[in-house]
Amino acid sequence: MKAIAVIPGQQNSIHMQDAPDPTPAAGEALVRVLRVGLCGTDAEINAGLYGEAPAGSNYLILGHENFGVVESVGSEVKGIKPGDYVVASVRRPCTECFNCQHGRADLCTSGNYTERGIKGRHGYMAEHYTESPDYLFKIDKAIKDIGVLLEPMTIVEKGAAEALLIQKRLPSKPRTALVFGAGPVGLLAAAALRVRDLDTMVVSKEADTDPRAQIAKAMGCRYFSVDGVSLEDLGKKIPCPDMIMECTGSSAVGFAAMQMLAADGILCLLSVTGGDKTELVHAAEINRDLVLRNNVVFGSVNASPTHYRLAIRALKTAQKKWPGVLAQLMTTRLPWTDFAKWFSREVSGIKSTLEISS
Ligand code: BGC
Repeated sequence: MKAIAVIPGQQNSIHMQDAPDPTPAAGEALVRVLRVGLCGTDAEINAGLYGEAPAGSNYLILGHENFGVVESVGSEVKGIKPGDYVVASVRRPCTECFNCQHGRADLCTSGNYTERGIKGRHGYMAEHYTESPDYLFKIDKAIKDIGVLLEPMTIVEKGAAEALLIQKRLPSKPRTALVFGAGPVGLLAAAALRVRDLDTMVVSKEADTDPRAQIAKAMGCRYFSVDGVSLEDLGKKIPCPDMIMECTGSSAVGFAAMQMLAADGILCLLSVTGGDKTELVHAAEINRDLVLRNNVVFGSVNASPTHYRLAIRALKTAQKKWPGVLAQLMTTRLPWTDFAKWFSREVSGIKSTLEISS
């Protein structure tokens, strides 16, 4: 079969190649990939910043945001049948840590987890893959057009769910939220918060007329453009939110957000900031504010099966509440042979996908 792969650690090594046709074991399904989503992680792996080939291979098939259809199942497979639309999760457990042994590979403590398309396991930018049904999530026809958004949705669902879980420490409930960033992750975070009926503001650099701002507003968010406005000035203009989700990819914004929280508020950091940029921050002020306001700051990565189920529910609710709005995120659909256009930044838009099969 054809696949899109990189040589991990080698800059701009992205290429299309032949890879062995996968054959499902008795306990596995064979899935035909219909579409994959592209994200910053893919770009950073192609930039050689991280990424790890599976043991015994010198290449890594890229791709972790996926959507496909089951083509056949092994004799021992239950619960999934040919014709089902599915999304496969990304992370697989290590063999040694307690959390991995208890269904929470997303909270792995050994660091020896693997991730399809990222770390030690081939991903989904290929014609087919095989997988155990333990890692496959069925997608209803009602959300099949936005099924490829499920994986990034799981990331924000985990962030939101964990923030609300931590805030169970309070007698009151969070009512107001702010999302930094109106990229795909930011807009999905806004959807996750609006589905939970939080009064939500979205702050990003695009103008108020930009499609990203329109999508945020269509979901009932207030949108603030910070084009030419400092975060300090913005902080003076808007009420301090009970909950902030940072989705810009900028560590500077993460630190600024720490000073914008309401008393008892919580900040969820979701950006995997590549590189080793240094920032000057007001350490004493930030520390003092966090202490005096009982604030919580936490990071969140990956997602557990529970978050996949929450994300499916959130996509369905969003589709019902705001029909067609999340589909507007999928602005750039490329035939998969045109993958190089995305990696060389020739395309713009909100979410780009590679159309692998129809
Ligand atoms: C993926 C996660 C993954 C993380 C770190 C993100 O882009 O969505 O599933 O855990 O990268 O590798």
